[in-house]
This record gives sequence, C-alpha cells and structure tokens, in this order.
Amino acid sequence: MLRLLLLCGALSCGASSDAPLTFTMLQWTQVSDGSSVFWGNATLGGRLSHLLDNRNVTQVLPLEPPAAWARQRDTVSSYLSYFSAIVQVFSKERPLNYTQLLLCRLGCCLFPNGTTRSFYEVSLNGTAFLTFHVPSATWELRWPRRDPVATYARRELMKYTETTHNLQHFLNTTCVDILRAQSPQTGKQRGRSHAPLVLGLILGVSAVVGMAVGIFLCTGGSC
Ligand SMILES: *[C@@H]1O[C@H](CO)[C@@H](O)[C@H](O)[C@H]1NC(C)=O
Ligand SMILES: *[C@@H]1O[C@H](CO)[C@@H](O)[C@H](O)[C@H]1NC(C)=O
Ligand SMILES: *[C@@H]1O[C@H](CO)[C@@H](O)[C@H](O)[C@H]1NC(C)=O
Ligand SMILES: *[C@@H]1O[C@H](CO)[C@@H](O)[C@H](O)[C@H]1NC(C)=O
Ligand SMILES: *[C@@H]1O[C@H](CO)[C@@H](O)[C@H](O)[C@H]1NC(C)=O
Ligand SMILES: *[C@@H]1O[C@H](CO)[C@@H](O)[C@H](O)[C@H]1NC(C)=O
Repeated sequence: MLRLLLLCGALSCGASSDAPLTFTMLQWTQVSDGSSVFWGNATLGGRLSHLLDNRNVTQVLPLEPPAAWARQRDTVSSYLSYFSAIVQVFSKERPLNYTQLLLCRLGCCLFPNGTTRSFYEVSLNGTAFLTFHVPSATWELRWPRRDPVATYARRELMKYTETTHNLQHFLNTTCVDILRAQSPQTGKQRGRSHAPLVLGLILGVSAVVGMAVGIFLCTGGSC
C-alpha cells in the first residue's frame, strides 16, 4: 500500500519588519479510496475572505455582489466535481487504498515600499516539493532527492501551458492589483470588482487537479 502525504510549505513573504499586505489561499485536497475531499480558506490582509468546505466555496468578506458571486461559486463547484469524477474513474480501474493529502499555498504580498512578491508552494510530507517560479511560469522541483513521483508531478503540471500562463498572470498582476486596491498607501480603495479572486481560486484548483491526478496515476504505477 502506497501512502502519499502532500503538505504545503511556509509563507514566502517572510517575517519582515515592514509588514506586507498579503493575500493567501490555502487548499487541501485529500484523495482516499477513490473519493476526494476539499477544504481551505483565503485571507486578505489577515482577514478571512473565502472558505472552501468540500465543494462549497463561501465568500466571507463581501468582495463581490451576491449575483456575481453565485456564478463564480458554481464554477468552482463544477471544477471540484469534475476532479472528483476523474479520480473515481481512475480508482475503479485500479483500486488504490492509500490516502493523499495535497496542501498548497499561493498568493502575493505588497510591501509598504511598493515591492511585491508572489508565491505558489507545495510541500510533500512537510518537505518542500514544488514551487511555481512566477517570472518564467515554470514549476520547479524542490524535493531533496530524485524521485519518480516528484519528476512526474512536475511534468504533468508543465503540460498545462495555458494554466501556467494564467497562473503567472494571476499571481504577478491580478493578485497584486487586489492588494493595491486594499492598500491605504496606494489610496485606491474604491469599490472595484473582485471577480479575479475567484479566477485565482479556479486556477489554483485546476493546477492542483493536474498535480493530484498526475501523482495519483504515478503512484498507481503508470509513470
Ligand atoms: C509520505 O509519508 C507517508 C506516511 O508517513 C509515507 O507512506 C510516504 O511514503 C511518504 N511519501 C514520500 C514521497 O516520501
Ligand atoms: C485557515 O485554515 C487554516 C488551517 O485549517 C487555519 O489554521 C487558519 O486559522 C484558517 N484561517 C482563518 C483566517 O480562519
Ligand atoms: C454552503 O455554505 C453556505 C454558507 O456556509 C451554506 O449556507 C450553504 O447551505 C452551503 N451549501 C451546501 C451545499 O453545503
Ligand atoms: C483495497 O481495499 C479493498 C477493500 O478493503 C480491497 O477489496 C482491495 O483489494 C484493496 N485494493 C488494494 C490494491 O489493496
Ligand atoms: C522593499 O521592502 C522589502 C521588505 O522590507 C525588501 O525586501 C525590498 O528589497 C524593498 N525594495 C526596495 C526597492 O527597497
Ligand atoms: C510582473 O508585473 C510587473 C509589473 O508589476 C511587470 O513589470 C513584469 O513584467 C511582470 N512579469 C511577468 C512575468 O508577467
């Protein structure tokens, strides 16, 4: 029996004396005996902004008007249902009795001096596993030893070039714009649309789907 535990690493913005304004999304995906469970949350400037409870995403901060939010929420639910269905199909073909826990951390920070930083980190069993390098839109292996699962997961993720470029844009631009709109320093706190927040959730989820499916197949012996 194979057992994979994927855990995400620590926040990349670091403990700086100049506290940055940060948007962070945490996503867990647990696949066990063919069924998938999702949970997570997002925080904007230290305040809970979104909750993911199985297939149900809730916006905690009123960032989007209810009608717009309802549409976004349905899109996220569809993605998660799609993922669950794929996993179920795979597990019927090749029953696996191990549990995988994927935990990913992504977001961006804005320092008082205007400098920004974006991050997407994945750790495996508490060890850094993969990180997304934003300038080149590539996934990088952090795993300390050569491992077919790690190599395979990275290759699977890199197949989705549309996802990697969308992810790059979300982390480098959209996420940072959200923070600039919130920041008193930039003085642009006007009622703007936060639809991109959900876009980020979807992109994050789809990246995780790619990785989880890849790892799932690989540990099933087909990589
Ligand atoms: C992660 O930890 C689990 C449980 O301790 C273990 O079964 C699994 O082999 C580990 N995975 C890797 C890739 O080391
Ligand atoms: C988000 O989830 C993590 C893990 O469950 C938890 O430690 C953290 O307190 C949550 N954040 C908020 C703002 O609720
Ligand atoms: C989703 O969460 C909201 C808020 O917690 C709740 O009102 C709603 O009933 C939940 N929907 C499902 C399908 O669980
Ligand atoms: C997984 O567990 C089920 C039920 O306990 C068993 O029938 C099946 O043979 C197991 N599969 C593997 C690959 O161990
Ligand atoms: C801005 O502040 C951050 C954190 O204190 C620091 O890492 C960065 O080098 C600074 N950038 C500039 C251009 O001063
Ligand atoms: C990231 O955003 C900055 C502007 O904030 C831009 O100069 C840079 O080219 C962008 N990088 C990528 C890889 O998109």
